[in-house]
Amino acid sequence: MLDSKIFQYTGTTLSCDNVHLDRLADTFGTPLFVTSRKSLVESYMAFERAFEALPHFSCYSVKANFNLSVIKTFSELGCGCDVNSGGELYRALQAGVSPDRIIFAGVGKKPEEIAYALERGVLMLKAESFSELKAIDRIAGGQGKKASVAIRINPNVTAETHPYITTGDSKEKFGIDEAELPEVFDFLGNLQNVKLVGLDMHIGSQIFDTEYYVAATTKLLTILNAAKAHGFTIEFLDIGGGFPVTYDPLKPATPIEQFAEKLIPMLLPTGIKVIFEPGRYLVANASVLLTRILYRKRNHTGKEFFVVDAGMTELIRPALYQSHHEIQSVTRHESTIIADVVGPVCESSDFFARHRAIPDAEEGELLAVMSSGAYAAVMGSNYNGRLRPAEVLVDGSEVTLVRKRETYEQLVQNERF
Ligand code: LLP
Repeated sequence: MLDSKIFQYTGTTLSCDNVHLDRLADTFGTPLFVTSRKSLVESYMAFERAFEALPHFSCYSVKANFNLSVIKTFSELGCGCDVNSGGELYRALQAGVSPDRIIFAGVGKKPEEIAYALERGVLMLKAESFSELKAIDRIAGGQGKKASVAIRINPNVTAETHPYITTGDSKEKFGIDEAELPEVFDFLGNLQNVKLVGLDMHIGSQIFDTEYYVAATTKLLTILNAAKAHGFTIEFLDIGGGFPVTYDPLKPATPIEQFAEKLIPMLLPTGIKVIFEPGRYLVANASVLLTRILYRKRNHTGKEFFVVDAGMTELIRPALYQSHHEIQSVTRHESTIIADVVGPVCESSDFFARHRAIPDAEEGELLAVMSSGAYAAVMGSNYNGRLRPAEVLVDGSEVTLVRKRETYEQLVQNERF
């Protein structure tokens, strides 16, 4: 069981802060994402405390959980935003984030997205190729503006994590190759409408070993010297995100303080403001996905299944990355049974757990899929005609519906025949 102070049993019922989860399921239905505001705030504070000795600006990576209430919570605490598309920029602005606290990433920004970001006046765009730099220069010129740009470096550091979420390796699509940098610096000197303000990297996600950050930061600092030698004044060093969380109590994440301990002495002497882009660290353990057990069944080999009303359309991480999410019953059970927990979608990969000890709950009871705050709702889909679930935010005893459940009408509203 995850050691959570936020999601814990009060009596025999699993609660979020002061609210019993069964009450939320009765009121809002299932599947339901339940997010604790207190947990969001605590994670942000812990991150800020760890890096407090370093002049820095944290930009929450909105892709992890783009619900407006989540973005707003961080923004009110002074956090900026890292966005990856026009849609995420729109969300951040809708949540009330000031454009000069937003940084815009993405390996494939469309011209209209670049134009949108420049019109709104974001803090900087992170460019990932020569062609993109040219496009930014042209579009900024058309708007009579000078675009503040960081270049995303591919430091060629292969962080040990799931292969789908390592991004700092030179075989991946991300960033500008180290070898090309001297040419990039010369090229930037010729662009009239672009101002180089930052150097940026992001080496991957859910990285446990601090040494990957050390290796990548060492490269970034060498590149900083090269940029200075070319006459550039760098205002921001962006280290990206990727800081890990505990999904499985048997594999506890490296504490954030250990990353800070390694990074602060390397970055502090530069005197340059450091940007961090934490996503998962701030949100993963703030939410659970509540789901109801529809059926239990056993096959001829004696294998047990819990068929629940949530599936890969709400949380695709087990299917896509073989990731582990703890599963707790909302009503506490002392006994467990080895079973698969599966969803209603027509795919064999539609599971939350396989061959795992699951609380021996009955049909009609509720299960909570833990650590569902990051890359869950945002990666959801309508596959199999599934409706996107409702989301609630809990703050002490207060509960707010922060996303309504989708309706059948909304499923087809953009279609014509
Ligand atoms: N900055 C950039 C440029 C990124 O691409 C990402 C995540 C982040 C920051 C935030 O990374 P975090 O702190 O959350 O690790 N869907 C996958 C994770 C994909 C991460 C994509 N980029 C998962 O469920 O594990």
